[in-house]
Amino acid sequence: MGLLNGRSAVVTGGGRGIGRGHCLHLAKQGASVVVNDIDLEEARKVVAEIAEQGGKASTNDSDISTREGAQALISQCVDEFGGIHAVVNNAGNVRDRSFLKMTDEEFMGVVRVHQAGTFMCSQEAALRMRDQGTGGAIVNTVSAAHFGNFGQTNYAGSKGAIASMTYTWALELARYGIRVNAISPSGTTRMSATYKGPDGKDVDLPFNDPTQNGAFVAFLCSDAAAWISGQIFGTGSDRVAILEQPRYGTAIHKDGGWSTEDLAEKFEGYFKSKLEPIGIMKPPYPFYDGVKPPSK
Ligand SMILES: NC(=O)c1ccc[n+]([C@@H]2O[C@H](COP(=O)([O-])OP(=O)(O)OC[C@H]3O[C@@H](n4cnc5c(N)ncnc54)[C@H](O)[C@@H]3O)[C@@H](O)[C@H]2O)c1
Repeated sequence: MGLLNGRSAVVTGGGRGIGRGHCLHLAKQGASVVVNDIDLEEARKVVAEIAEQGGKASTNDSDISTREGAQALISQCVDEFGGIHAVVNNAGNVRDRSFLKMTDEEFMGVVRVHQAGTFMCSQEAALRMRDQGTGGAIVNTVSAAHFGNFGQTNYAGSKGAIASMTYTWALELARYGIRVNAISPSGTTRMSATYKGPDGKDVDLPFNDPTQNGAFVAFLCSDAAAWISGQIFGTGSDRVAILEQPRYGTAIHKDGGWSTEDLAEKFEGYFKSKLEPIGIMKPPYPFYDGVKPPSK
């Protein structure tokens, strides 16, 4: 007996890479799965794989970065499988360029798929879950890039926004029994092949099976995770890690408030050793000697 028998789920960008793994694991636990991908051929292969394993799935080639696409996708799940219990917002793209060179098109092209697609698919699904009265699960996808990553203003910004939307929806949707979590996955995929090291050069990473994130996603979508909402987990390979949420740390107080002169005089004494590291690799804080324009 699977943990998701009788349930139905949608996975965006499920035709390859990490999303394909989510589809296989959800189906293995008994869910009927709508495998969405703008690349219909890839989605078809995943549906065939699920059918071979005795599962139930159908394809959908909506572009989830549009309202019509999101609506058609969620409606298909309800019409074909009698309802929707989980949506996994996984579809993604990258268009890397350093900040000063990034065009509006490159920026919006990534924001539309990641942030707006997640917003629209989740909203369409949550409205259905609310009306069904069944509750359900939303699983979003972030990335450690949201800590800051060179050349990824559009991608890092979208992933940070998705983290914030995850916390917000967990608060708003609990009253309908809808849980909202996110994963920060890892895996060797078409997308990971584009990764650059801190020096901007290609990196040769060992193979990491992208389907391994799916077991945790299936768990998050099940009643076994009924107590988990508003959380982000690092997944992939052999580990599951909780992602600590940003919070206020050390604070300084002064009766009547701080003047600019006070801060200029005292701030260094309080905070010089406390600034946060930045970036995906979390190296030591890099700017203690000042951030200066290039010397003439
Ligand atoms: N691979 C990693 O190590 C890694 C790390 C962190 C986060 N992620 C995230 O995991 C998710 C999956 O990434 P992946 O590595 O499997 O990438 P991938 O490129 O292999 O797969 C993404 C899939 O999304 C589909 N897609 C893109 N735009 C779409 C749209 N508008 N509508 C429908 N489908 C669309 C693509 O056709 C593709 O099949 C992404 O959200 C990505 O940001 C991946």
